[in-house]
Amino acid sequence: MTDARDQPLSHAYPIGSRVDARGHLQIGGCDAVELAAQFGTPAFIVAEDDLRERARAYVRGLTALHPDGDVLFASKAFPCTAVYRVLAQEGMACDVASGGELALALRGGFDPARIYMHGNAKSEAELRFALEAGVGHVVLDSLHDVERLERVAARLGVAQEVLVRITPDVSGDTHAAISTGQADSKFGFGLAQAPAALERIAGSPHLRMVGLHCHIGSQLLELEPFRRAVSALAQLGEFDVYNLGGGLGVAYLEAQEPPSIPDYLAAVVAAAHAELGPGKRILFEPGRSLVANSTVTLYTVQTVKRNVSTWVAVDGGMSDNLRPMLYGSRYQAAIASRMHATGGELCQLAGKHCESGDVIIRDVELHEPAPGDIVVTPATGAYGYAMANNYNGVPRPPVVFVSGGNARLAVRRETYEDLMSRDVD
Ligand code: LLP
Repeated sequence: MTDARDQPLSHAYPIGSRVDARGHLQIGGCDAVELAAQFGTPAFIVAEDDLRERARAYVRGLTALHPDGDVLFASKAFPCTAVYRVLAQEGMACDVASGGELALALRGGFDPARIYMHGNAKSEAELRFALEAGVGHVVLDSLHDVERLERVAARLGVAQEVLVRITPDVSGDTHAAISTGQADSKFGFGLAQAPAALERIAGSPHLRMVGLHCHIGSQLLELEPFRRAVSALAQLGEFDVYNLGGGLGVAYLEAQEPPSIPDYLAAVVAAAHAELGPGKRILFEPGRSLVANSTVTLYTVQTVKRNVSTWVAVDGGMSDNLRPMLYGSRYQAAIASRMHATGGELCQLAGKHCESGDVIIRDVELHEPAPGDIVVTPATGAYGYAMANNYNGVPRPPVVFVSGGNARLAVRRETYEDLMSRDVD
């Protein structure tokens, strides 16, 4: 329910977030300041309704445009059992890129027949695990991958259905580290190599080649590169199944206006209809655009100091969000108890780690930051928890699901004992 005094919130926040009359941020009907008190900080807060709404936008959107299709959760974006479970419940299929993600997907309730096993360097053990689990499709990435899968499939006496990953020589406008479609890529078969590889795979008695896969990159804010990728795949002949990857960008900042999920689906499905021929099965594989905006991170301000700039240091940083350091990614932030306040001081929002580069946001306005304040950064659901680490012996944060005013712990905070739990000496 919206209160007349509610302030509009940036669309980087989860759907259904609001600011209450006291100026406190509410996510999933829960007061962010109270969540911080209950679960401690830093913490990932996931608005379950947001997650479900975006999953439905994908699943229903594709069904309406092209019923013979499937939407796969690219689970590398947020590989946590509770997220897998919600997205399995919403009728999605799943993309896993390692044995570990496969184990999590199975635990989260995905039907193995609807799991797609990716990876440019899958081990024999990972392939064996996938085939024994009954994974529906393996996405082949190199000739060594082909040979290895053939050996495993032959030993198990199965003919494994496969897709073949193609690098379509299309790059979107994104950070080089997360661009994957360029001709010289570590992923997939280039357009020049593909015909021979496809012939080789089609001739294998242990593999059943059903189609092609491509994924050109991530955080793409324009639709044109997706269309060009479809055209590139069309050059390789006709197949039954086309997995067109993920890559749709999201709003990290209020000013960013990514294409909506329906617009993205409409554009790519139209390209597929125009270029790939009738009767094809079309798959999408979104990660970021499903999960990024469902989640906010809560931190507590520990110190404020003025060394030329105003340095506001919180109790997390590059251990829970590597993206600013890896890609120079920008986030927005606010003080969760003073969302109404206007006019802030230009600050450097710093993490607690022992290097100068551990700055979550440079030049961000915060309103009278003081120790004990709860700082919120929205749009941290994708590749935050996924890339969290224990640098400086910092335990990884909990994941808390919120919905309808209720909060439940989905992943507990790591303990110091967890940090030592694998030490055998
Ligand atoms: N499919 C494949 C084969 C992928 O490699 C990826 C992402 C996806 C789907 C999902 O893409 P999305 O819809 O999330 O853009 N750590 C980086 C992102 C790396 C993306 C890797 N692959 C980041 O934090 O920006």
